[in-house]
Amino acid sequence: MATVTEPVAPAKRPRPRIHQTQCFIGGQWVPAQSGKTFDTLDPASEEVIASVAEGDAADVDLAAKAARQQFETGEWSKMDARDRGRLIYKLADLIEEEADELAALESLDNGKPIRDSKAADLPLTIDCLRYYAGYADKIHGQTIPVRGNYFTYTRKEPVGVVGQIIPWNFPMLMVAWKWGPALAAGCTIVMKPAEQTPLTCLRMARLAQKAGIPDGVINVVPGYGPTAGAAIVKHPDIDKIAFTGSGETAQMIMRDAAPTLKRITFELGGKSPNVVFDDANIDAAIAGAHFGLYFNQGQCCCAGSRLFVQEKIYDKFIDRLSGMNKTRKLGDPLDPATEQGPQVDQAQFDKIMRYIDLGNKEGAKCLTGGKRHGTRGFYVEPTLFVDVKDNMAIATDEIFGPVMSVLKFKELDEIAARANNTTYGLAAAVWTRDIAKAHYLASKIKAGTVWINCYDVFDAAAPFGGYKMSGMGRELGEEGLKAYTETKTVTVALG
Ligand code: NAI
Ligand code: MG
Repeated sequence: MATVTEPVAPAKRPRPRIHQTQCFIGGQWVPAQSGKTFDTLDPASEEVIASVAEGDAADVDLAAKAARQQFETGEWSKMDARDRGRLIYKLADLIEEEADELAALESLDNGKPIRDSKAADLPLTIDCLRYYAGYADKIHGQTIPVRGNYFTYTRKEPVGVVGQIIPWNFPMLMVAWKWGPALAAGCTIVMKPAEQTPLTCLRMARLAQKAGIPDGVINVVPGYGPTAGAAIVKHPDIDKIAFTGSGETAQMIMRDAAPTLKRITFELGGKSPNVVFDDANIDAAIAGAHFGLYFNQGQCCCAGSRLFVQEKIYDKFIDRLSGMNKTRKLGDPLDPATEQGPQVDQAQFDKIMRYIDLGNKEGAKCLTGGKRHGTRGFYVEPTLFVDVKDNMAIATDEIFGPVMSVLKFKELDEIAARANNTTYGLAAAVWTRDIAKAHYLASKIKAGTVWINCYDVFDAAAPFGGYKMSGMGRELGEEGLKAYTETKTVTVALG
């Protein structure tokens, strides 16, 4: 049993103040045209935090027009790149000033433990914006020697108005991953935050305005996917879509984006293999394997949800993992002692419980957890399935919850094929003291990121994205900028 720290009564919690709940269009806070609102919940208490404007196609249209106008003729289009960079730095500074309040707001809306919001979400958000702020004046083309008496050069121009649709698992960080490169490149933005977690994105829009980013550069339309989201994807005045979320939604977006042939980048899910050899530093591997799956309630696109452990160390390994689960502190996300909060909503909770049920039915052994925790809030016990077979649903499907599947392996030879036996390819990890083995596997595994003797190490400078059905294109790093620029070739006759 996980240690029980029951959520305290919601009224007694110190609550962050809610400032922004409307659409942010052309620098104005406005209700949805329809007048509709939707509720965002606190997943720990299942109570309503705030009612938020429910934008749809009409609001997206206004946002796209504001973004287009700013892109074509506004201050943004005339601003020096270095000044653009300064504004992004300023936004990062303002977020840093409000870090504690933003962390609390993120934890309230999403359910993630405040210690994680403070240690991961906030610093990574600030770092990402600063990284791209520094890029703003370093985006340049080439001069190219061509045949004949010509002078040819390329210009890197902003792709235009970008539609950005983000999920609920790292709400603020996803804003930074999307706004950072878009702003650095000189694009303007129509963003839709996830309906589960709109609050920090709206707060960041306010801070962007305070930083002096011109009105109309950043527009935020909260609302649902099939309405507001689909309207962004279909809008003829939006040039590019950047999406993070599920593969099913990505397929819909691809279809909806086809008539206007939008540029698209996708960062989707995974079923990432985490491979532990018996010659690894076992303490580090156990800590890494546990963190790699249970961090953020298992709601990570790169979660190490297929843990392959070599035969000789298997028993000891699962013993220690289950020990960690038994002492894990579940509770109020705003309590600094809490290690695991609730899942984000009822739908995710139900999906996870379905998979736990499937795991039991298919004959995997449930060593810890497997049940709801408490009676209020979407809490799931940290769950550990062992003796999992490669073809079981819990070994093939993305669960997006605190459910670990442990598989046994014997030889190095078998492991690359088993690790790659998936439609996904987002991330992987290898734990061993043998550097040849580590690099051999790193080259064999089809994934956008391979961690060796570590897990979930993210940096704004390091590209991230998926092979196969885990995505298209890369975010972060210099590569992350590419998706926000068009290359123009200019050729001058010298004769
Ligand atoms: P989703 O893909 O439906 O939602 C992500 C975003 O897309 C949200 O902002 C949503 O409103 C929007 N969206 C939904 N339908 C849309 C449409 N037709 N057109 C445009 N935008 C649309 O994901 P959901 O339902 O929240 O979670 C389902 C599963 O997806 C999770 O259990 C998990 O397996 C996976 N997922 C993966 C994430 C990742 O980081 N790669 C993040 C969130 C979910
Ligand atoms: Mg919420």
